[in-house]
Amino acid sequence: MKKLGVLISGRGSNMHALHEAVCDGRIPDTLIAVVISDHADAPGLGLARERRITTQAIERNGRERSQHEGEIIAALRAHDVDLVCLAGYMRLLSHTFIEAYRGRVLNIHPSLLPAFPGLCAQRQALDYGVKYTGCTVHFVDETTDGGCIIAQTVVPVHDADTEETLSARILIEEHKLYAEAVALVLRGEYEISGRRVAHCA
Ligand code: GRF
Repeated sequence: MKKLGVLISGRGSNMHALHEAVCDGRIPDTLIAVVISDHADAPGLGLARERRITTQAIERNGRERSQHEGEIIAALRAHDVDLVCLAGYMRLLSHTFIEAYRGRVLNIHPSLLPAFPGLCAQRQALDYGVKYTGCTVHFVDETTDGGCIIAQTVVPVHDADTEETLSARILIEEHKLYAEAVALVLRGEYEISGRRVAHCA
């Protein structure tokens, strides 16, 4: 059994989608070992508990980042996690964290990176006036949304779109794409050359 650790800060819909995919076999021979949130009141924690997934709230509480991350890394190790999935986790990871799980941390972002990294990616896309945006699953490095791209889905922007309607349409695709990308990475069916992640069966 492969073990996922999912890091969240809020709603947790991508965590939920990953769990669905684990349960219905799209991510086979895998379980979510732990869901960790840096906010004890994150709605996603409740969602995870309802699904009987082990949860842990590890808040920063004014501590140094290294201390906070150290506790998270210890929890991930205690649960023997193979792959860390960031799912709406709102903190940049330090070099120490990345080194501890180099090549084993994924993130989902609601734009076609490298366009519109950082916060409010859907708002950024609307403000820029692009006709297509989407979502990206990428390996996490020390930069904001800058790691190697594993998979992307294109979503059209409609003239009548608001941030809410566009975000909702992208989110549907996020949920599918994240499960596909996690399954691919767990199967090891990829090769990295420079920044390029080639899919191979
Ligand atoms: C998603 O749009 C994800 O792409 C971004 O943060 C949002 C988290 O949503 N990184 P949820 O908590 O998974 O519902």
